[in-house]
Amino acid sequence: GKGEYRHFMLKEIFEQPSVIGDTLNSFINPATREITLPADLVEMVAKASRLTLVACGTAFYACHVAKYWFEQIARIPVEIDVASEFRYREAPMPEGGVALFVSQSGETLDTLEALRYCKRQGQKIVSIVNTIESTIERESDMVLHTLAGPEIGVASTKAFTTQLTTLACLVLAAAAKKGAIDAKTVGAMSDSLRQLPSLVNSVLQDTAVTIEKLSREIAEARDVLYLGRGAMYPIALEGALKLKEISYIHAEGYAAGEMKHGPIALIDDKVPVVVLAPHDKLFEKTASNVQETIARGGQVLLFTDRDGLTQLGRGCRWSVRMPVSDAFVAPILYVIPVQLLAYHVAVAKGTDVDQPRNLAKSVTVE
Ligand code: F6R
Repeated sequence: GKGEYRHFMLKEIFEQPSVIGDTLNSFINPATREITLPADLVEMVAKASRLTLVACGTAFYACHVAKYWFEQIARIPVEIDVASEFRYREAPMPEGGVALFVSQSGETLDTLEALRYCKRQGQKIVSIVNTIESTIERESDMVLHTLAGPEIGVASTKAFTTQLTTLACLVLAAAAKKGAIDAKTVGAMSDSLRQLPSLVNSVLQDTAVTIEKLSREIAEARDVLYLGRGAMYPIALEGALKLKEISYIHAEGYAAGEMKHGPIALIDDKVPVVVLAPHDKLFEKTASNVQETIARGGQVLLFTDRDGLTQLGRGCRWSVRMPVSDAFVAPILYVIPVQLLAYHVAVAKGTDVDQPRNLAKSVTVE
């Protein structure tokens, strides 16, 4: 049941510290810090001439974050696509390629058909699924399980963060195997992963009340934009998807640098602009996009850490302070407040949070 929570979605948001921890412990030995992913899987991924990551919806955004990680950290070329496009694209696939499918249910038809296409193209098939004994699992060469437990809310939350956790472990293992990063870096990154449960918990504790308060104002908006750069870009897309799914407010995610190529025309004082901007290598770039938005009357809701707030907090309508973290794990932290934002906006609007109109938990038809 929902226990003390008003909705399954809220319960599942608050379960994230523990299910991320369970998922981590299944891939990294908590005592020895050793990565315990299957060696043959890690070797296959490390040696891949190319990785093709395919999924739908929120699971696709997990792939999108993983593209940044696999390329930057493990130096493996990655292609990503949504399954409904990929399966009909007739893409040529490289010899020695590995195709990876991400699905909470393990039953999404488009994802399954994309998997079958990749198999016919001679790719090795890996899947990351949450449900035990699904069709996608059965048709894969290798499988990793996210340990999110059953997800009841239609809007995916804990499945997403455990997918990211699993992908992060795989990236780290493949990077170590390839020698793309040295042992010291592997250790530091695995420590960052192991701090996730407590960091996610502190984000939940420290931001929930502020977000609930400001969400009553956001609930009045007709349109909301979400901006991010690098691995924060897919988190912006995910934030926009969550908001439209459950609050029915029109929302779009954009790469921050794309603003001046069109979307900035939408900005006026009625459009909240949610900005995900940890104080990292890309911060200055995003900050200048935020300044351009503010100059046009945009009402910015800034999610950033201490240094980001010092630099950019003043011109923003709202801001939420995030903990300082390693850039590697930041996407897993920054999705938490956008889940909470979507949830509280939906509650403020009085929609059916757990069963939004027109949506089904598992999409087994085209
Ligand atoms: C969004 C959401 C959907 C699913 C998508 C894929 O909140 O839940 O976008 O992520 O339908 O479903 P699975 O992961 O079961 O393949």
